[in-house]
Formats: sequence, structure tokens, C-alpha cells
Amino acid sequence: MDQLTAQFISLEGSEGAGKSTAMNVITALFEDWQVPFIQTREPGGEGNAEQIRELLLHSDHLEAKTELLLMFAARNEHIVKVIRPALAAGQWVISDRFVDASYAYQGWGRGLQWQTIEYLEQLVVGNTQANLTLLLDVDPELGLERAARRSEKDRIEQENLRFFENIRSGYMQRAKAYPNRIKVIDANLSIDAVKLQIENVLRDFKSDLLKV
Ligand code: TMP
Repeated sequence: MDQLTAQFISLEGSEGAGKSTAMNVITALFEDWQVPFIQTREPGGEGNAEQIRELLLHSDHLEAKTELLLMFAARNEHIVKVIRPALAAGQWVISDRFVDASYAYQGWGRGLQWQTIEYLEQLVVGNTQANLTLLLDVDPELGLERAARRSEKDRIEQENLRFFENIRSGYMQRAKAYPNRIKVIDANLSIDAVKLQIENVLRDFKSDLLKV
């Protein structure tokens, strides 16, 4: 598949949606297709951005606007130092979360204005947009139950059910607004059923690329 332009894929969903499993499914497919790729995450994916992640997830309290600005500060480091160079070198990029998370969490979750997020998106992301986004949609109650089994909660995971319901609505609005890019995966189902949906989306994505 090295005749294809490197693609940027992001993975989204609220807590306990199964992003790690999804990441494994995608990387296994890419290995099978012999696509050169890097796997990264937000907030983080690069030294300074990982330090900002630490602050975002483990400080006591952050003002909503501070949280938004830190997400974009980390994203700027990540895009400039990791994502753009990888794509330019022909490597596909799979990022565990990207800019849709800022709309869902800081917009819908924290209630910050769209225009502010859009402004930051233009400033930081520009046209380095994901070509495909897999949105793992899960009932927040089920997601939180799964996440609770896994590890100690970070600052954002400690929010209440209502917050995660708003995030789910935010993500679904994004999916409606960008139906070509954002593909919704029903993550309430069994791991095998989720895997199958992801593989199907990626196979369709690849065959569309080959058609162009
Ligand atoms: P993770 O636990 O999925 O790695 O994500 C870290 C947390 O950061 C998660 O609760 C979602 C949140 N987040 C935002 O609130 N806004 C963003 O823009 C990003 C990328 C993540």
C-alpha cells in the first residue's frame, strides 16, 4: 500500500469505550497491510505534551478555560513535532483522541463556547485534520463501570454521569456534522462485535483510497 498518501486516523469515545482494544485492532490491520504507521495519543504523544498531560489529569483543580488552553498547548507540540513530520515522511498516524475530544469534553462537558474552540482549532490544527475518525459510542453508565474496573480515576474521570452524558451527545453531534469523516462504532456490544465493526470501517476506508 505504499503508493497511498499517508493517512491520519483518530480514535474517540468517552471513558470505558474500549479505545485500547480498538487501537490493537487497527495496528494489527496496518501490520497486515504493511502500512508504515505511528501510534500516538492526546493529550500527550511528545515530551512536553506528556508533561502537560500529567498536569491535566493529575492536578487538583483546573479552570475550564485553563483546561482547554492546555489541551491545545499540548496539541500544538504534538502536531508540530510528531504528527506533521510523520505524515510528511509517509507514515500513517493513529492518534488516541484528537480535536473532536476538545469539542466533546471542553465544549459539551465544560460548557465552553464553540467559537473559542474553533478559533483554537484554526490556530493550532489548521489543515492537519484527521482523514478518518472512529467514534466508539458507549452508554456512559456501562463505560464508567468498565473504567472503574480498570484503574484509579484521574481528575476528568471523576466527573459525574451527567458530564459523560453531555460528552456522548457532543460526540454524536460531531458525527452528524461530519458523517464522511466520523464513523460511529457501537461499543456497547461484545469485544468481537466491536472488532468486526472497526475492521469493516477500515476496509471500506482503504478501498475508497484505492479508488481515487
Ligand atoms: P485518555 O484517558 O483517553 O487517554 O484521555 C485523557 C483524558 O483527556 C480523557 O478524560 C479525555 C480528556 N481530553 C479532553 O478533555 N480534551 C481533549 O481535547 C483531549 C484530547 C482529551
